[in-house]
Amino acid sequence: MTARHFLLDTDLTSAEQAAVLDVADQLKARRRAPGPADRPLAGRSVALLFEKPSTRTRLSFDVGVAELGGHPVVIDAASTQLGRGETIEDTAAVLSRYVDAIVVRTFAQERLERLAAAASVPVVNALSDHAHPCQALADLQTIRERRGRLAGLTLTYLGDGNNVAHSLLLAGALAGMRVHVASPPGYEPFEQVVRHANEIGAATGGEALVMHDALEAAAGADVLYTDVWASMGQEGESDSRSLVFQPYQLDEKAVEAARPDVLVMHCLPAHRELEIAASVLDGPHSVVFDQAENRLHAQKALLSLLLAPPSTGAGSSAG
Ligand code: CP
Ligand code: NVA
Repeated sequence: MTARHFLLDTDLTSAEQAAVLDVADQLKARRRAPGPADRPLAGRSVALLFEKPSTRTRLSFDVGVAELGGHPVVIDAASTQLGRGETIEDTAAVLSRYVDAIVVRTFAQERLERLAAAASVPVVNALSDHAHPCQALADLQTIRERRGRLAGLTLTYLGDGNNVAHSLLLAGALAGMRVHVASPPGYEPFEQVVRHANEIGAATGGEALVMHDALEAAAGADVLYTDVWASMGQEGESDSRSLVFQPYQLDEKAVEAARPDVLVMHCLPAHRELEIAASVLDGPHSVVFDQAENRLHAQKALLSLLLAPPSTGAGSSAG
């Protein structure tokens, strides 16, 4: 049997995404009084392998696996033989002999795909250069708990067409949302991702749109979202990017252009007065710490799905 991976948002169907969000809400509601059914990882171990820094993802997976009854093993890749040139394939094969799932933060999506191809246990994308699907699940949970629905809402993302933007486009499309991305020319999300989101949207009612004017994109938005202008690995471009991205700051003007009850979101870590005005990040519309908290609940729900015991066919007369 091949393992069930979560490398990209679209590795879940719309129905599975909704089911994960439902379970995330349930786990959140009874976190302080969990029942026996809330420990599906009892006796199982999960490797959390990091090739880039992390605060939220690392902590929320570590605590989440433990709360599900499992044993988390957090690994800084540089301190392993990966740092001395052991292949990602050999690493995947070895880890698969010890653990029941591998959660990985890395650079190229292709590296993640190679790891998954060589692993015999589920592999989860904990952020790659291409996508951040666990973040998007938590973001959708946050929007849904505030608005009661996702379909038909407009989320406007201002800034770099990066991994977070890609995941919002794809996960939003699965949920039937309109996702508008306003980026400077040359920094738009990948065309192939936008096309894929629109293909999904044709069935769900979602829509993906790339724009260049931040205020036009923000007009009437239910959610305003931004992320860093220079992602991990792009530190050398920080200064040049700060100039190019300045008109895309999530500031008070953008908030005024949006709906009066707009939610302001940021995956964090944030740079006040760069991609987001401090008054907006710390202001009344901001739900950034709910987002951060929901990483825990959404990832627990995701792991519960990926590591669910295979159906035994109970109830069927075959056999
Ligand atoms: N949002 C997010 O993934 O944060 P970390 O880089 O701290 O994990
Ligand atoms: N786009 C950012 C997200 C950090 C959570 C990065 O990749 O660094």
